[in-house]
Amino acid sequence: MTKQIAIAASKGGTGKTTTTWNLGFGLALAGARVLLVDCDPQDNLRFIAGTGESPSTLASMIEGGDMTPQPVRESVWLLPSGGRRLMQALSAAESLKAITSPLKQVLKSRVEGEAFDFVLFDCPPEFGRAASAVVSVSDYLLIPCVSTWLGLRSIEQMIEFVDTHTRDARIDSEQTGIVLTFYTTRRGGPEAVRQEAKKLFKNRMLKTLVRERTELDYSQEAHKSVFEYAPSSDGAADYSSLVKEVIKRAG
Ligand SMILES: Nc1ncnc2c1ncn2[C@@H]1O[C@H](COP(=O)(O)OP(=O)(O)OP(=O)(O)O)[C@@H](O)[C@H]1O
Ligand SMILES: [Mg+2]
Repeated sequence: MTKQIAIAASKGGTGKTTTTWNLGFGLALAGARVLLVDCDPQDNLRFIAGTGESPSTLASMIEGGDMTPQPVRESVWLLPSGGRRLMQALSAAESLKAITSPLKQVLKSRVEGEAFDFVLFDCPPEFGRAASAVVSVSDYLLIPCVSTWLGLRSIEQMIEFVDTHTRDARIDSEQTGIVLTFYTTRRGGPEAVRQEAKKLFKNRMLKTLVRERTELDYSQEAHKSVFEYAPSSDGAADYSSLVKEVIKRAG
């Protein structure tokens, strides 16, 4: 059965796209067929994948088009956002259902006659229409939280929102995981944030800490996953740990 994971945070630059990209590749390395869906008009996943513009995007699907994802690697596919056109399609949509219906169609889709094992949705940095629709069709919500005091405040607000607004959705506290990103021991702050986050979010906190590492940035410029670019690095080790935790919790 296809598992749907929303990667979302109400704050910008927390590592959502980096997490979607590397988690996707890690799941594929573990034998899964993975579809990455870019729900952010910034179109970052397509830049990282290094693929050209495509007629089939999330925007074109919301406008009633077909679903033809781009192949990225043997078991990884990408449905790009459509950039500015997604912004227009989201605001033109008459209701949330006009966004959730095409998302459900994405989930049911097949390539080469086979379903996906995982569909990962990279959400924009806000909890707006796109993220709300994605969360309502997902099995699991993964929230990357930057390891700073302010980063924690944003996620605290977002969790409050999720708890009060998604009562009817399929996501509950058991299906929400928070992963700290940009973690470093060079300063004391991130460790204090980790301890506070554990107290605040209890079993929603994942054990994996994604450390602040340059290979995560450089690998994107090279259009590669961190596993391909620097397989023995800390970045690869951290995302490999995240893959295992996500399979255990959401798989
Ligand atoms: N753990 C990390 N260590 C170092 N650099 C990182 C790490 N995670 C992400 N980055 C870099 O930080 C920048 C922001 O990351 P990313 O784009 O994944 O965040 P985002 O939450 O998707 O941002 P946005 O809110 O704009 O969508 C990127 O240049 C990325 O390469
Ligand atoms: Mg992003």
